[in-house]
Amino acid sequence: MDYKELMNQAVEIRKRAYTPYSGYQVGAALLTKAGTVFCGCNVENAAYSPGICAERTAFVKAVSEGEREFSAIAVIGGKADGPLESAPPCGICRQVMREFCDPDTFEIILGTGPEDYQVYTLSQLLPMSFGPDNLRNQETV
Ligand code: THU
Repeated sequence: MDYKELMNQAVEIRKRAYTPYSGYQVGAALLTKAGTVFCGCNVENAAYSPGICAERTAFVKAVSEGEREFSAIAVIGGKADGPLESAPPCGICRQVMREFCDPDTFEIILGTGPEDYQVYTLSQLLPMSFGPDNLRNQETV
């Protein structure tokens, strides 16, 4: 699976975004180390805070199907009636990535489409992060 194809899948799933409140649509395609792809879109809510981002939709789908090992995620955004845009993941999504992914090797593909993207590591987008290792070997109170 090359990143151009992963980006294509993000573009496709973005069409399913449910965004009656912001009108900003995001698609994400999450690649497992085994080569499977889980796709997600943002799903908004009338009460606002229950809304979920595309990236977390993809992670929740994958983890709930038993996947724990990931190599990359492609993300694409843009207004419903406008061109595709680069959509850097929000802070909460970066932290969710940190839970399951190695910051130095997990790659985040951002850009305006399959022909125009850049590749970042998670540690570039979330430096000095707090993760599962910080809670290992802690005595419980
Ligand atoms: N959104 C995502 O899906 N991913 C991000 O990382 C940034 C924001 C969504 C949430 C909301 O539905 C819309 O974009 C506007 O914030």
